[in-house]
Parts: sequence; structure tokens; C-alpha cells
Amino acid sequence: MKPIETLSNEHGLIRHYLDNLNLAADQIAAGRHPSEAFFDKAVDFAKTFTDGFHHFKEEHVLFVQVAQKKRGEVDAQLDALRHEHERGRTLVADISRALPGYAAGDPVKTGELVEALGAYTALLKHHIHVEDHVFYPMAERTLTAAELETVAAEFDKQHERHGRDTFERCHKTVVDMGSILTHVR
Ligand SMILES: [Fe+2]
Ligand SMILES: [Fe+2]
Repeated sequence: MKPIETLSNEHGLIRHYLDNLNLAADQIAAGRHPSEAFFDKAVDFAKTFTDGFHHFKEEHVLFVQVAQKKRGEVDAQLDALRHEHERGRTLVADISRALPGYAAGDPVKTGELVEALGAYTALLKHHIHVEDHVFYPMAERTLTAAELETVAAEFDKQHERHGRDTFERCHKTVVDMGSILTHVR
């Protein structure tokens, strides 16, 4: 698979995950209580897949290649994308912090959880939209076939490092999160 296509596929899984988060927030707003197990999986997916795997490949491989090729021309755009990754990490930490209080039924912490979920999903949906429609097409136009091969080889190393089954494993997490939500009371 071409490297940009690999990243776009990962966006598909992240979008599915974000839909689960939105649904969980709606359930809480409707007075229901998705389990802590759901949010444990949510935090694990954000750290393992979104940040540790997908954002890592963007920041440490693709962004670096594009920055070298464009010689400073797209630094502001890359800084904005990196900043959004960073903001995402902060919001995931906010979600984690609110969880013990949410589990104990604390209304203030529950409010903080819903707020952080809303901010995180809005941020990432926007971020993914920009990458899919603006940044990735530009990267594909900018890099030669040989440079894209280099990116693909680096991605392959990361897939080896994280485990070849990372996508399938994390896909299962998202499916499991969805099935937890169908049983929420
Ligand atoms: Fe990104
Ligand atoms: Fe991305």
C-alpha cells in the first residue's frame, strides 16, 4: 500500500473511534453512564494508535520528508499540524484526569469529561479533514516516487516496531468500544 493511502486508512479507523466518543458523550448528556471500561479503551486507543502510531509516523517520517523537500516553505503548516497533535495529547490527559470522578458520579468531573470529549473529537475531525484534503494531496504532489518509497520503508520499520497486527488490534478495540455502547443503561 502507498504510504499516504496507509495514513488515510488509519484516519478511517480514527473517525470510527471518534464517532464512538461522540456517542458516549451524547449518552452521558442523556443521563446514561457508559462504563469506565469504555473510557479505558478510549484512552488506550488514543495513546497507542492515534498518537503513538499514526501521529508518530506523520511527525517523524512524513512531515520531515516534506519539510526537507519544501525547504521552509510549509513550516507554518507543519507547525500547525504538530500543534494540533500536541493539543490532542493535552485533551486526552484531561479525559484521563476526569475519569475517576466520573466513575464516582461526581457531576463536576462528568461535565469536564463531556467537555474534553467534545473538544477532542472536534479537534481531531478538523485535523483529519485538513490532512486528507489539503496536506496529504500536497505531500503526494511534492514527493517523488523514490521519496515516497523512502517514507513507505520508514513506515514499515514502525509497523515492525509496534507489531504488524497494530491496525487489527486497534480496530478490534474500536469495535469493542462500539459494542460496550450498545449495552449502556
Ligand atoms: Fe496529524
Ligand atoms: Fe493524520
